[in-house]
Amino acid sequence: MYQIIDGKKISQEIKDELKEKVAKLKEQGKRIALAVIQVGNDPASGVYVNNKKKACAYIGIESLSYELPEETTEEELLALVEKLNRDESVNGILVQLPLPAHIDEEKVIQTISPKKDVDGFHMQNVGALCVGGKGFVSCTPLGIITLLKRSGIEIAGKRCVVMGRSNIVGKPMSLLLLRENGTVTVCHSKTQDMKEITRQADILVVAIGKPKFVDETYVKEGAVVIDVGIHRDAQNKLCGDVDFEKVAPHTSAITPVPGGVGPMTIAMLMNNCVSSVE
Ligand code: GUN
Repeated sequence: MYQIIDGKKISQEIKDELKEKVAKLKEQGKRIALAVIQVGNDPASGVYVNNKKKACAYIGIESLSYELPEETTEEELLALVEKLNRDESVNGILVQLPLPAHIDEEKVIQTISPKKDVDGFHMQNVGALCVGGKGFVSCTPLGIITLLKRSGIEIAGKRCVVMGRSNIVGKPMSLLLLRENGTVTVCHSKTQDMKEITRQADILVVAIGKPKFVDETYVKEGAVVIDVGIHRDAQNKLCGDVDFEKVAPHTSAITPVPGGVGPMTIAMLMNNCVSSVE
């Protein structure tokens, strides 16, 4: 029988621990504020931003909301980020992605002060992760490491395969698994004989953005499978990059969608906000 890794439960535990920490920080006269910037009104981004603000309210973090129109220019957005960089009452800055096509996303990310980059996207933070320095770590991969650890799954010495090489998930995921002493392989769209590689994985992390792409033929019997995808299937039901029904019986542990990796991303964002003050 396989274990379902309950991200909802684990993220709730983390949020409750953070709530206590924030109360203690407040007793010491410290406050925590996160600036959340959304440009345009992409409905999915709207849902994510709202969930982030709700989590802030629950934990006791002040959220400063900047909802800018679609026509906002790159200069205007950069000016706001620079103003928030200088504002000592703001601890974290989050610019929700994707940005409208006329704005250079990379330029905006690199303008956020690395000390306030709670998303962990700035080159300085990614570099720190690469060489084992201190810095913010991208929330989804950090959430996955936390899920594995809190579920009692050992990473050291394990064969870890990451499907996907995005800057937000795949790349930092591979670096984090390496930091935990996993033996890491990264697969991507140009990888040949993908199944031969994924079938060697003790821990398989799937972040390719294709609904139900991974079936049981990709997975070794008894592997741990982590599904980062979130999509709607033909029946309008939420599903991941992994075909859960087909894959789960062959695993020792698997994350569901929804209720697996998703809630952990927000818990880690809150964790990064709190550590920016600590
Ligand atoms: N869009 C999708 N995921 C993320 C994330 O983790 N952070 C931000 N800022 N935008 C996103």
